[in-house]
Amino acid sequence: MLMLWFTIFFSIVFIYILLLIWFNIIYPELRWDWSSIDIKKIKFPKNFIWGTATASHQVEGNCDNNNWYKWEQSLNQKGEPCISGSQKSGDACEHWSRYNQDINLIKKLGLNSYRLSIEWSKVEPNKGEINKDVILHYHKVIDALILNDIKPVITLHHFTEPVWFHDMGAFEKEENIDIFVSYSKFIFSEFSSKVKIWCTINEPSVYTTHGYFTGIFPPGKKNANIAVNVLKNLLQLHVEIYLALKDMPNGNDCQIGIVKNINQFEPYRRHSIMDWMVSLINNQFFNNSVINFFKTGVFKIRIPGLAWIKCYNKKAIGAMDFIGLNYYSHNHVKFKFDPKEFFELKFLSKDTMTDMPYTIYAEGFYRALHQISILNKPIIVTENGIADKKDKNRERYINEYLYALFRALEDGIDVRGYYYWSLLDNFEWAFGYDMKFGLYEVDFKTQKRTLRNGSKAYQKIVQKNN
Ligand code: GAL
Repeated sequence: MLMLWFTIFFSIVFIYILLLIWFNIIYPELRWDWSSIDIKKIKFPKNFIWGTATASHQVEGNCDNNNWYKWEQSLNQKGEPCISGSQKSGDACEHWSRYNQDINLIKKLGLNSYRLSIEWSKVEPNKGEINKDVILHYHKVIDALILNDIKPVITLHHFTEPVWFHDMGAFEKEENIDIFVSYSKFIFSEFSSKVKIWCTINEPSVYTTHGYFTGIFPPGKKNANIAVNVLKNLLQLHVEIYLALKDMPNGNDCQIGIVKNINQFEPYRRHSIMDWMVSLINNQFFNNSVINFFKTGVFKIRIPGLAWIKCYNKKAIGAMDFIGLNYYSHNHVKFKFDPKEFFELKFLSKDTMTDMPYTIYAEGFYRALHQISILNKPIIVTENGIADKKDKNRERYINEYLYALFRALEDGIDVRGYYYWSLLDNFEWAFGYDMKFGLYEVDFKTQKRTLRNGSKAYQKIVQKNN
């Protein structure tokens, strides 16, 4: 009997150790020795797209008819304001009226492209009612960009929706997918003769994780099963938009893709099987489920007791002309004995924090480029940047992340362009105006824009490689 118990015990220990060795080998946390790296040697292809990105709600001002506007006025379940310090997006950067000035700022940096989003709640303030002045406004913005040799890139959905759509249950309801497909077709028919790169949905995993799981984005729900269902609906939505737009006039000479944020989850303790489990679950939910969907047509998230979904859509396989990658950093996760919140985020003391709750980790960008390349589509880096109010680490961040991009290009990864987030300091969602991502600092009292010193690293690399 004792012998049997010994055998069972040692087998378990043996399997545990084998699993740990296996995980540590197949999921290494890459670290480069930066002291031996010569950042100056980086170079980029001649026709590379150099850009910067913004989103309507974060910069335009007067977005007072969408889900985020409502959210800014609300309190969460604990009775606290949903946005840090009760901040409101309000006038934001007044980009709506100052777009000409801002286009000049883009030009001064030597950039050749600008990614912006169209504010659906302004275009269609009530269901079925189009505001022609708003359409005219976006035509003027796009024309001004083209006149300045800056290629416009449109994002159709960047986290915001009109209040009327939000009240209809937004993407919790599969039947609402058609509404956004029709809207997308309308916008495409308006602008596709001028705009040749299109992003359908920005970061579906972030929208669903925060809107339906952590509850820090509207509608503030905390239910993993709803979250995975919304994620499934958004991915199906992308497929429908992609196929519909490709069939329209200009469809064939436009590049249409979806924007995926990759954020690797690493075990905080590499010797703990529980930390490995939570990192694998998070990676499955946040990263792999989406990539697998476009690779195989299967969308599958199976986390017992939390979320359970599987569906198949053959049309999803390869349904994009490019994949947009947003990359900022990775997270370390530590298992917690709490069924409601079974892990917590941790930081390694050796790492440098940004002002956001994550660290500088350029190697992760390199890994993400490799990971997304399994889709066999050209990659456009649609966002990458740092919140750094004191401008202490911006130069280092830009140099190291662009070095990582250069390394990926050298490995043969097909990357076509890079958009720095963001042109201006802006309304950073749940953090309000506390986070300073701008290449240009904005004084929100006077609306004065000033180029940050650290941003010159980007300007220098762009000018050298143009
Ligand atoms: C992304 C988002 C952007 C911006 C950025 C910086 O997730 O698409 O709108 O907020 O993060 O945190």
